[in-house]
Amino acid sequence: MKTLVVGAGALGGLIAARLLAAGVPVSLATRDARTAALLKASGLRVSGVGGALAVPVTEAAPVEDFLGGFDLIVLATKAGDAMEVAPRLPGLLGPGGTLLPIQNGSVALALADLLGADRVLGGLSNLGAAMTAPGAFEQRNAGHLLIGEVAGGESERAERVGRWLGQGVEARVTANFRGAVWSKLLINCAGTTIGAVAGGTLRQFTAAADGREMFGRVYDEALAVALASGARPERMVVDPVPPGWNGRSVPSDAQDAWLAQVLQGYGDAKPSMLQDFERGRATEIDYLNGHVVALGRQLGIPTPVNAALVETVHAITRGRLAPGMGLLGTILSASRAEDPGKGAPPTSRPGPAPGSR
Ligand SMILES: NC(=O)c1ccc[n+]([C@@H]2O[C@H](COP(=O)([O-])OP(=O)(O)OC[C@H]3O[C@@H](n4cnc5c(N)ncnc54)[C@H](OP(=O)(O)O)[C@@H]3O)[C@@H](O)[C@H]2O)c1
Repeated sequence: MKTLVVGAGALGGLIAARLLAAGVPVSLATRDARTAALLKASGLRVSGVGGALAVPVTEAAPVEDFLGGFDLIVLATKAGDAMEVAPRLPGLLGPGGTLLPIQNGSVALALADLLGADRVLGGLSNLGAAMTAPGAFEQRNAGHLLIGEVAGGESERAERVGRWLGQGVEARVTANFRGAVWSKLLINCAGTTIGAVAGGTLRQFTAAADGREMFGRVYDEALAVALASGARPERMVVDPVPPGWNGRSVPSDAQDAWLAQVLQGYGDAKPSMLQDFERGRATEIDYLNGHVVALGRQLGIPTPVNAALVETVHAITRGRLAPGMGLLGTILSASRAEDPGKGAPPTSRPGPAPGSR
């Protein structure tokens, strides 16, 4: 399969490097000609989980310099860039070629709507990677790429793309891609986004009553939208539906144990969105909590806390607010004032925050 990776950042660089090291020819599309020249001079280096390697790069150029005929294009930019560059990519695909976006959130679903599900295969990454210098990447976990038809079900092309990419990185195929998107989205919306706004990890913010309540409210809203949309979120670290859930989280020992498991899986990672704030980069909020709000509106499911988080993230990006735990209290007070009939928050219980160490 003639393969192009668009975006030589943390994930794209890692995937391209591991494929090249396995003898799989890969071309790299960079944002500009300068970056392409740098990568051709430096080659790609990988360290961390899965072993170190160094490979030369011969084919690197901006997207517009490629002539086309690719069987597979792995789109590995951030969400906003993906939506911007994607409409140019079908022109680079050969007959029967496939575009594989691997962003978090709703990007693959949106691109399948925009470009046609026959051109777009769904991708998600549970691989963790960081770019430590141009051309140098660190693999941070033993994760995998997940690939599946956006409309669901099995397909020969998903298997074929999975086998091809599996030569370099672990790649798994799912018949329930939409469910997999939601499983990750639930954690991204309630963990990554709240963590970024609070300025800390999931474990840190859920140790405070406001943080614990925010987690429950955001998760409940997102899960209600997912289920109403017909998605069947897949089990990742935990069952995506908390024990005793009845449209809202119900405080119980079983729910505390569920959250403790969530914390074990995701509690200590620095939220990538917090890194975006620190680097002054655009966030992916519109494709995470923003997707929950937009779909909730279509389905008639209220999502006030997710909507407030989206606004807050945009305000932080614009420099009008700074991340901090105080922002969670502000969002919660506003949502209680708008809906005083809700009574006591469903997820708050006296005593120490479950799972906190
Ligand atoms: N990194 C992880 O561990 C991880 C894990 C799971 C999911 N993800 C998801 O994977 C996606 C990529 O994340 P990442 O961490 O790899 O991001 P990243 O390090 O920022 O890499 C994105 C790369 O794409 C480049 N780019 C942007 N627009 C481009 C264009 N038009 N043509 C060619 N290249 C372009 C960027 O260049 P500039 O630097 O010039 O902007 C950057 O090198 C995100 O959606 C993220 O949420 C990442």
